[in-house]
Amino acid sequence: MSIGELLRPRTTVDLTKRPRRLRSSAAMRELVREHAVRVGSLVQPLFVVDPGQPQGEISSMPGVFRYTVENVAAECRELAALGIKAVLLFGIPDFKDSVASSAHDPAGVVQRAIRAIKRDVPEMLVIADLCNCEYTDHGHCGILDEAGDVDNDATLELLGRTALSYAEAGVDVIAPSDMMDGRVGYLRATLDGSSFGSIPIMSYAVKFASAFYGPFREAADSTPQFGDRRTYQMDPANAREALREALIDLDEGADFLIVKPALAYMDLIRAVKEISDVPVACYNVSGEYAMVKAAGRNGWIDENRTIDEILTSFVRAGADIIITYFAKSYAQRHRT
Ligand code: PBG
Repeated sequence: MSIGELLRPRTTVDLTKRPRRLRSSAAMRELVREHAVRVGSLVQPLFVVDPGQPQGEISSMPGVFRYTVENVAAECRELAALGIKAVLLFGIPDFKDSVASSAHDPAGVVQRAIRAIKRDVPEMLVIADLCNCEYTDHGHCGILDEAGDVDNDATLELLGRTALSYAEAGVDVIAPSDMMDGRVGYLRATLDGSSFGSIPIMSYAVKFASAFYGPFREAADSTPQFGDRRTYQMDPANAREALREALIDLDEGADFLIVKPALAYMDLIRAVKEISDVPVACYNVSGEYAMVKAAGRNGWIDENRTIDEILTSFVRAGADIIITYFAKSYAQRHRT
């Protein structure tokens, strides 16, 4: 076909359908908008440190801070005033050993933080991440056997003890992120057997062995001292296995399911949403945050527009709840 022929107007083109009509003004676009981020569905992760640990801003996560037990409640009060309903706590203890003793210490950093927040800002929902990697000297998420492998069943008992100590401190939701088999059922039975039957379990059901956790491990000082997490976290190549994990956790009594990371796993947010009947959360992890901040600081992207686009896309993909380090700044920019 010649250029002349290509440029000739085609009388057969159908212009009865003009989607651009509904994009003609800001008001029209607002009218037909299908999805929106609700500030009330955002969860702000918070790092809480023991006195001997570094405080202040995390270098690879500009705008994200490590708090002490003394100042974490004040941060929660600010978040509550912005309309944020829930925080997800991570502890960074002074003491680590091979069996994560400080994880279930009734006077541990997370237990103290839960008490402080529930005392000062009782309306704030406190979700506690439940894992051992911040509390073990080897940095793995469970107890090691003689061969140096994570011992699944011995780790369950440890998780149960820590969950009970969080419950006793007044936690609202327990969020196990260790990826041991059977932990949701084990924790459900443990909580129910100790008069904590009303505490829901938000399971990191679909959690991948991801390079996107890099900045978190720096922040939480939880990098494994040898090996990696691939014998318990999932292979990023697997989607059907993700659904299997989600179904197992539902069957064991999970009240919420988390897909983590989020950005590179939007297909699984949608898929988990379709096969489940509980709220689905996605975790917009530290590496996803760091990439946006780095590019924004270099002037390579418009940071705020990028954040809004990403969070809206999680909603479009099916996320009911978004766990994100952008929660506070998003709420500040979208004050009503
Ligand atoms: C603990 C845990 C991790 C994250 C949340 N809980 C680290 C890991 O599994 O290595 C990552 C969160 C983030 O990157 O923002 N197991």
